[in-house]
Amino acid sequence: MSKNNVQKIIIVDFGSQVTQLIARQIRELGVYCELINYKLFNKNQPIGSNVKGIVLSGGPKSTLHKSAPSINKKLISSDIPVLGICYGHQLISNLFGGKTKYSKKKEFGSAELIEKKKSKLTSGFFKNKKNIVWMSHSDSVKSKPKNFNVVASSSNSKFAILEHNSKNIYSTQFHPEVFHTRNGKIIFSNFLFNICKVKKEWTDKYKIQRIIKSIRLSVKKNEKILCALSGGVDSSVLAHLLLKAVKKNLVCVYVDTGLMRLGETEEINKIFSKKFKKIFYKIDAKKIFLKKLKNIHDPEKKRKIIGNTFIKIFENFTKRKKNIKFLAQGTLYPDLIESKSFSGSPTSIIKSHHNVGGLPKKMKLKLIEPFNEMFKDEVRKIGKSLKVNKFLINRHPFPGPGLAIRIPGKINHTKIKILKEADKIFIDELKRKKIYDYIWQAFAVLIPIKTVGVMGDSRTYDYICALRAVTSQDGMTANYYNFKNKDLSEISNKIVNQVNGINRVVYDITSKPPGTIEWE
Ligand code: XMP
Repeated sequence: MSKNNVQKIIIVDFGSQVTQLIARQIRELGVYCELINYKLFNKNQPIGSNVKGIVLSGGPKSTLHKSAPSINKKLISSDIPVLGICYGHQLISNLFGGKTKYSKKKEFGSAELIEKKKSKLTSGFFKNKKNIVWMSHSDSVKSKPKNFNVVASSSNSKFAILEHNSKNIYSTQFHPEVFHTRNGKIIFSNFLFNICKVKKEWTDKYKIQRIIKSIRLSVKKNEKILCALSGGVDSSVLAHLLLKAVKKNLVCVYVDTGLMRLGETEEINKIFSKKFKKIFYKIDAKKIFLKKLKNIHDPEKKRKIIGNTFIKIFENFTKRKKNIKFLAQGTLYPDLIESKSFSGSPTSIIKSHHNVGGLPKKMKLKLIEPFNEMFKDEVRKIGKSLKVNKFLINRHPFPGPGLAIRIPGKINHTKIKILKEADKIFIDELKRKKIYDYIWQAFAVLIPIKTVGVMGDSRTYDYICALRAVTSQDGMTANYYNFKNKDLSEISNKIVNQVNGINRVVYDITSKPPGTIEWE
């Protein structure tokens, strides 16, 4: 989708694990931004007139290394305001004549910042000339460039915030984008609105209008869009949006993979056959998926098989219905980041999300993915504006590969049945205890290892069920949910007593990173 006319901020990515949090901060402030790898930034010139500011991200390399990522100084010497963060801070300093020194010692975690000089960037950021910020670096700027002033220092970083004395170039050694920097958003707000003077155009209404306009431009009168509907938040909101955009040129297809949660197919069928009457289709593909996944234990293989099978089913469907030229998916920005190097950055692939890395190389249908630069909470907000059923919007996320990636190793009918029952009890209990809405995502995992237990007077030898419940903002990072012991033990008792095949329950207390939310 072309976003050429929107005013935007470019985030030049040097590979930091938290670069996407910069994008979140900026988007949350109502401004459109794009992440671009530093190599592409160097190549893709000239910079468009709608670029109102440039942010240089952090990165894992040392600016002192021979092959350290860098950018052409000219690109940040024009009138476009620049904000460098961590690696970006050191890079700006080096490019303008300062000196960064290598250090084996890392400054990692909270640090106290002391204000040295008033600046447009830090207006309202300090309280009594102090603030707590989050640092993550080993090298430091040891002598500042000539034309730069010191705005703030910490005990380890004399030059913690620098600003050019005549140009709009600012840089911070700490990370204002992370939650642990107090009032980090003020830095972004000041940069965007006081320095870049960018317009607040990235509103829900605007996003909806743009998506509708762009879809109408791409789809001809006689062409149809197939919307892959799973009944999750993203595909449900997408279906509503497409209905608004192309009305009768839409068909929504729900595939029952047999890997959905207990009762889910019936729930989705009920909701969508009402609202989407003659354009909603349900395909029973339980047998196909089970057959294709037989004896497959590798998570990446599972995802690829599932992605491919979905596409084959959709392509077969197009033989039944004429003129389907497009496949619309609710792919999100984090799906892209984790599945491939979206900005061409050095960040490695975490897992192939079924709708991205799991797709076949050659496809007959053209893809429409209007949410592929958005986070889930942005999609939820669009759903609210479109008055999508609350049940659909507020559901916990559920991955396309479904329960197949919640049973490590080989799957079979029995394991799926056991997991469905355990998961249903877990989720129902969260709702009954009124804690479901405080949790970003919760589910049960079937650990395919049997352990010994005792029930009544008999020995049992059954599977282990792991419970996963996390809090998160966008699924990119997550913390485990801190249950009351009483709640956990009640849930565990219910599962062990009611599900045949499980005799032990454990709770996963790993955060992301280093874990991921799903187990595969
Ligand atoms: P991870 O496990 O990567 O998950 O921490 C982050 C979020 O993404 C969801 N997820 C997927 N969603 N297709 C999807 O539609 C996939 O292949 C997929 N893999 C993970 C996961 O449930 C969590 O919300």
